[in-house]
Parts: sequence; structure tokens; C-alpha cells
Amino acid sequence: MVDARGTILERLQVPTPSHSPQAVEDAIVDLVSRLRAGHAGVVSAGIGAAGWVDNTQSIVRFSPHLAWREEPLRERLRERIDLPLIVDNDANAAAWAEYRFGAGQGSSVMVCITLGTGIGGGLVINGDLFRGTYGMAGEWGHMISVPGGHRCECGNRGCWEQYASGNALVREARELVGSNSPLAYRLLEMLGGDPDTITGPGVTAAAVEGEQTAIELLADVGQWLGQGIANLAAALDPDLVVIGGGVSAAGDLLLQPARQMFARTLTGRGFRQQARLELAHFRNDAGLIGAADLARHAILDPPMAD
Ligand code: BGC
Ligand code: NA
Ligand code: ZN
Repeated sequence: MVDARGTILERLQVPTPSHSPQAVEDAIVDLVSRLRAGHAGVVSAGIGAAGWVDNTQSIVRFSPHLAWREEPLRERLRERIDLPLIVDNDANAAAWAEYRFGAGQGSSVMVCITLGTGIGGGLVINGDLFRGTYGMAGEWGHMISVPGGHRCECGNRGCWEQYASGNALVREARELVGSNSPLAYRLLEMLGGDPDTITGPGVTAAAVEGEQTAIELLADVGQWLGQGIANLAAALDPDLVVIGGGVSAAGDLLLQPARQMFARTLTGRGFRQQARLELAHFRNDAGLIGAADLARHAILDPPMAD
């Protein structure tokens, strides 16, 4: 529940039920009705969905990490939630929140990158969220960074999000501790001794406590991040790149290596102005704040008549 200034008034959270669009839908309906019960004057509901949302803000065409395929999410929910509704991509929503209320205020070309399960992307150009022709702009998590590299849930190999995301951090951490390297003993011990239960937040916590291997794992992710941002800067020439999502909780442990790699790989470096790289003001909350604000605005300016 978010007010018009982007302040979170109340929050409910449940794990995403995987592999069933119906179960995800039920969870959304349940959360909305529980939130509404405690608040008067609710005007709309916004969904930030981790997938490719069409430009009518209603259909999730595809999601690498969820079971949605051509899912008419808005239609389905509209039958069950009696409020104006919009669906947008989760990272678009995060970008919007940062532009409106957070780190991106006043920027001219703002690139937003959310690091979680995958990499999400959002682009705000001169105050407008840029969605592309069909609604699918900003999917830079699936630009190929390493031809023939790790298989991605989108089906391709070597996508950027296989190297610079929460999932990448966990994969690398598990691989390292599984290698029995002496470098990894302390990390494994700090994380409870079972490689299979290692999580991104666990690795981040160990790094924050100063564990060297965890610091290196985050720095690796940061370097992949910085290199990818240099590619985006070559294409888009932003003034600001905002980095959010769960992994951004690592703060400087992620940001410093990213900045260094960005500065080292940006084409034309030394002869051009350079985008600032900043952490998202709202960190992992940006998506929900932005989804609410997009929904609020959609009432004033409906995305489509249907
Ligand atoms: C998906 C995006 C999503 C991002 C973050 C990516 O794998 O393709 O649509 O925004 O993950 O959830
Ligand atoms: Na996006
Ligand atoms: Zn991919």
C-alpha cells in the first residue's frame, strides 16, 4: 500500500508460488484484498511482473522465471479485483519509482538495472518510461555477454543475467565451495555448511562481515555488471545508471568494482562525459512503489480502452 508520494504505508509479502499462473493469481488477489481491508480511499492496483508485458499493459507474453506464457494477467485479475489495474514489467516499475521519487529525479536519460533472480531493465528518457514498440524494451539481462556461456532460463546461452545477478552469485558461490578450495572453507562455515542452501543474501552478509571469498564473489558480479553497463552506455549515453534489486543490498561491495570496470571498458573513455552509477534509493522496494505510482497515473491517463 503506497501513497501518492511514494511512501510505503503497509507491506505484505508471500513467496512467489512457482509453476502455476493460477497460484500466482490467487496470491495477488489475496494480498490485494488483505491490504485493502485496512485502508480507505484505495484508487488502483499496479502489478510489477517479472516478464515481458505487452504495450497494452495487460498481457505477460513470456517470463523466463515464471510460468507465464501469453498470460492475460490483467483480464484475469480484473474479474477478481474490483479496482482499476495495470500490469507492467517489474524493472520498468522500479525505474519509474527511482525517477519519480528516488535516485533518478531530474535525470535526462536514466538506465535502471535490477539485480535479483535475473537482471531487469528500465529506461526513462526525458521523464517518460520507454517501452519500445511492443512493450519489451529494456530486456538487457538477455543481451549475450558470453557467446556459448551458461544456459539462461530464456533458452539462450551466455545472457548477461547469467553473470551479473543474484542467481549468478549463488551459482558461483556453490561452485566455489563445491570445489573444496581452501579459500572457501570459512565462507561455507559461515553459511551453515551446506552448499545447497547457500543464498545470495547469505553471501552478501558474509561479505559485509569481511569474509574475503564472499567479497571476491560480489566483486566478480560487480565487474560483469560494470562491463555490461559500458555496453549500455555505448548504446544509450545515459547520464545516470541506477542499480537496484536484492543484490544492491551489497552496496559498495558491488558498486565499486562495477564503477571500476565501467570506467575501464566504456568506449571513448577519457574523451567523453561518463554516466554516474548509483544505488537505487529504494533498493529492492522500488518495483512495488513504481507499480503503485504507474497504476495511480493510469487512472488519469488510461493506457488503453478495452
Ligand atoms: C526478465 C525480465 C525481468 C527481470 C527481473 C528477467 O529475466 O526477462 O522481464 O524484469 O528478469 O525480474
Ligand atoms: Na523492463
Ligand atoms: Zn536469457
